Amino acid sequence: MKDYTTLSKEELLCELQKTNKEYDGIKALGLSLNMARGKPGKEQLEYCMPLLNTPLTSDSFGTNSDYRNYGILCGIPEARKLFSELLECDEDCVFVGGNSSLDLMFGTVMRAYVSGICGSMPWSRLPCVRFLCPAPGYDRHFAICSHFGIQMIPIKLNEDGPDMDAVQKYVENDPFVKGIWCVPKYSNPDGITYSDEVVSRFADLKPAAEDFRIFWDNAYIVHDLYDKSDKLLNIFDELKKRGKEDMAIEFVSTSKISFPGAGVAAMAMSKRNLEDAKKTLTVQTIGYDKLNQLRHVNYFGTAENIKRHMKGLAEILRPKFEAVYKSLDELTKLGIAHYHKPRGGYFVSLYLHPGCAKRTYELAKAVGVTLTAAGATYPGSYDPDDSNLRIAPTYPSKEELEKSLSVLSVCARIAALEVLIKSAE
Ligand SMILES: Cc1ncc(COP(=O)(O)O)c(C=O)c1O
Repeated sequence: MKDYTTLSKEELLCELQKTNKEYDGIKALGLSLNMARGKPGKEQLEYCMPLLNTPLTSDSFGTNSDYRNYGILCGIPEARKLFSELLECDEDCVFVGGNSSLDLMFGTVMRAYVSGICGSMPWSRLPCVRFLCPAPGYDRHFAICSHFGIQMIPIKLNEDGPDMDAVQKYVENDPFVKGIWCVPKYSNPDGITYSDEVVSRFADLKPAAEDFRIFWDNAYIVHDLYDKSDKLLNIFDELKKRGKEDMAIEFVSTSKISFPGAGVAAMAMSKRNLEDAKKTLTVQTIGYDKLNQLRHVNYFGTAENIKRHMKGLAEILRPKFEAVYKSLDELTKLGIAHYHKPRGGYFVSLYLHPGCAKRTYELAKAVGVTLTAAGATYPGSYDPDDSNLRIAPTYPSKEELEKSLSVLSVCARIAALEVLIKSAE
């Protein structure tokens, strides 16, 4: 295989002709494959079934209160303890909610809009609100911003986390910058884990806005694929050292530990932030699904057991991720792509030759392979280089995934060849 960027125009044309033929062959197969969303595959769901098959017994419904009944807004104590072990923070800083961490994030933004945070002006009364958005990032974070009319400021995501010089400049000088979205471990989509230096620099921030909050979405906290996992510094430890615990709110869920949409979500924050949030939450609900919390506590028991369970899921996922790495390595050898090889998480983020992401997406779609839409990983769906595609390898079977990857490879090659031929003209 030759590096495309070293080929003459004639060689490129000849390569395009060959690749177009491959594409025509795929068209005839009438495929219908999906690599668009980060959903667990069937095998993962089956692996989690013992959680549902363990019955709740009458001696486990609580001693001081009955978990089958209304109440206990912050979650059952056993679930708060379990999440505090997982997040390595105090139990009384943990709020255990319903089935979705995204819902807790949305609620946090909504409370800020309606009531303000810890006595500050409600965001709805401000002339504008801005959020920093490390990009590429999670499209649903950006969707929350769009929904509330929050201005999104893209921040470059480097190999060790967001560009902290840019973060510091905005946070420390602009009082309308109220938040930043962070997926600090195995980020969606790049699979990057923030370095110790980046986490320390977050803790060092001196925001211009007293109600600035770091939305620390630790969705992939225990989602390691290999024994040698990435390590993330505990942001609350760093904040505590500096007396700034109010500055971050951490979110987590068991969506990709047990069942998406039927797991348990939690958030951790300072006591001051929690007391403030509870003023609204207590009006909003009498309490979340404590029986599901109990089910998870009974099944997992400890954070160590959760980690053991995740090793089993990693056995299912690792071959799929490695199929992606193999296919993408071939593209990188052609000089038309690069990517970071994550050691965990749910995605792989592919950077194609500039100007090729949309074309590749459309070519794949036309032959029955659905990818996450090109641009979706950027605020406002605008990828300035039209280069990034998010690959979600978990949902399809390994065979389907391999088929999808070979289609992706053909489409990416066509798109790159077309651009290279044009620039050779
Ligand atoms: C970074 C990130 N946060 C949150 C979520 C959604 O989590 P939940 O199911 O707990 O709402 C996802 C799902 O893909 C995600 O990738």
